[in-house]
Amino acid sequence: YQSNLVDPFGRAISYLRVSVTDRCDFRCTYCMAEDMTFLPRKDLLTLEEIDRLASAFVTRGVRKLRLTGGEPLVRRNVMSLIESLSRHLGSGLDELTLTTNGSQLYRFADQLAEHGVERINVSLDTLDPAKFRVLTRWGDFHQVMRGIDRAVRAGLKIKINAVALRDVNEDEFEDLLRWAHGRGFDLTLIETMPLGEIGTDRTDQYLPLSLVRTRLAQHFTLDDLPDRTGGPARYVRVRETGGRLGFITPMTHNFCESCNRVRVTCTGTLYMCLGQEDAADLRAPMRASSNDDLLHAAIEEAIARKPKGHDFVIDRDTTPSVPRFMSATGG
Ligand code: GTP
Ligand code: 5AD
Ligand code: SF4
Repeated sequence: YQSNLVDPFGRAISYLRVSVTDRCDFRCTYCMAEDMTFLPRKDLLTLEEIDRLASAFVTRGVRKLRLTGGEPLVRRNVMSLIESLSRHLGSGLDELTLTTNGSQLYRFADQLAEHGVERINVSLDTLDPAKFRVLTRWGDFHQVMRGIDRAVRAGLKIKINAVALRDVNEDEFEDLLRWAHGRGFDLTLIETMPLGEIGTDRTDQYLPLSLVRTRLAQHFTLDDLPDRTGGPARYVRVRETGGRLGFITPMTHNFCESCNRVRVTCTGTLYMCLGQEDAADLRAPMRASSNDDLLHAAIEEAIARKPKGHDFVIDRDTTPSVPRFMSATGG
């Protein structure tokens, strides 16, 4: 008998984020350097191994699985993984979902819906195609829009994630909000976090969401919503649009005390916190034996040292406290 996972601070681990690839077809300026190099394919877990790992967590009380990347939909055959993981829905698992840049949704939206995915998060920081191209370094805005349309037709619920960036998209939040809510999507704004050396100073990009909220409140009535949806976002209802607006504020308001999640990378490394370097290798214990005993022991040992929280700082004199890139841990 394997019990549910609870960390030393009494936080139950019910949410696993699985990065299925570190590759991405975009190079968002806040996420990666332009000349980012990716892992050799031979280092990746196989899809069967990812399934085995994720399933081990489901038997330990994880009720929500989110596939991330890089861009999860560029991993070859990822649909077969999703189809396989969907067997847990209705038994151990409440939700199987993903966070995507939307570039491949026009191809995969229907299959996602068929395999039990009900809701997806799409990263979209601007509605201006030219700006989108610069921000993602070469992404095609219209291709993403086509994907979103396809997802809507497939019946998927959509949350839009936008990273708030000074001088880049700070003039667009009103438009993004009207657009997202007009289409029935939630919108979540995110403070940029200092992960990885991206070749530019993050101090120049950083925009505190407290400021954004004050500005939005001049045009909209924001009513606080009590529920926390098991994620880090704090939500408000926008009275004028009827839609939900979320704020993810790792920098200005730390939400670590209610953290319910851990992350596995595509090489089988478990990160107990997005903002800390400490990690545990799960690949070796998994490969060492065909039963999961060693794997479960390694997971337990890792959860027992889950840190209290991150200690991100953004200022000009501090290099990122976390040298690995967001795309390695999947956000
Ligand atoms: P929901 O299920 O819709 O609540 O999604 P989510 O917010 O958990 O996931 P998503 O992939 O949409 O993440 C949005 C942003 O929140 C990303 O920038 C993540 O890096 C960030 N984020 C998610 N979890 C954590 C966390 O535990 N700590 C920190 N600092 N940031 C997080
Ligand atoms: N800070 C905050 N969010 C980031 N993302 C990528 N890099 C960063 C960063 N440095 C976001 C993406 C996506 C989510 C998984 O993480 O835009 O929405
Ligand atoms: Fe790719 Fe997402 Fe990073 Fe952009 S933020 S480069 S879409 S992994």
